[in-house]
Amino acid sequence: MYEKLHESAVFLRQAFAGQVPQTALVLGSGLGPLADELEQAVAVPFGDVPHFCQSTAPDHAGRLVCGQLAGKTVLCMQGRLHGYEGYTPAQVAYPIVVFRALGMRQVILTNAAGGINEQFAVGDFMVVDDHINFTGKSPLTGPNDARIGPRFNDMCHVYPKALRQVADDAARACGISLQHGVYVGVNGPQYETPAEIRMFRTMGGDAVGMSTVFESIAAAHCGLPVLAISMITNLAAGITGQALSDEEVKEMAQKRGEVFRMLMKEIVKRL
Ligand code: HPA
Repeated sequence: MYEKLHESAVFLRQAFAGQVPQTALVLGSGLGPLADELEQAVAVPFGDVPHFCQSTAPDHAGRLVCGQLAGKTVLCMQGRLHGYEGYTPAQVAYPIVVFRALGMRQVILTNAAGGINEQFAVGDFMVVDDHINFTGKSPLTGPNDARIGPRFNDMCHVYPKALRQVADDAARACGISLQHGVYVGVNGPQYETPAEIRMFRTMGGDAVGMSTVFESIAAAHCGLPVLAISMITNLAAGITGQALSDEEVKEMAQKRGEVFRMLMKEIVKRL
């Protein structure tokens, strides 16, 4: 694993031709077009990077784009891998560990999520203060390489307060109000049952989605601070009595995409 990481990192360092990104942005639903706004952009398809897996999810471009955003050098991951596609948790999280090997200072994970907290409205953004990994799996399963991180990893400081504060300050500057809460990560691909959502609410969950937790765990393991932001694309199962659909999620992700991108640029500017 360690040798593979370095092969991936060396390849990317060469591909980026002198640009040294400090922040990685994993772009979830609705945010993909942010990568198209980078200046001096260098795009590398996942399939070209040694040891990277290809994304099978529809609407996920599957490429890394390095360039300038809001005066900073960033690396956007346009499209990501999900456990429900059949990838192992370690495969899903692999790019994150490569980002650390590239010397990045932080990663911003974005996602679409269903709102469990009844105070949340569709279209809200939620800063992830903490998560519940409800997939039953971990990217750290298997032999541990102490050069990457410890066998038994602390999970108390995955989402540092300082980064969440940057998000709050950026949102205020943009005139956007942010929610805060606990993200429940599930495997999917099916949406939840109403009973599952009631259970998640009782457990302290505020939003639910099918990504992010493996990436956050791997980032914590290799010492990469995480800022995670969810776009509440729908109210979670059973809240409205309506069936959930992918169309609804995509439609809202697109509708609020522009505001989300504005927020991300303001955050990046402040890092
Ligand atoms: N559940 C799980 N994942 C999601 C949802 C949801 O309601 N909305 C967007 N991603």
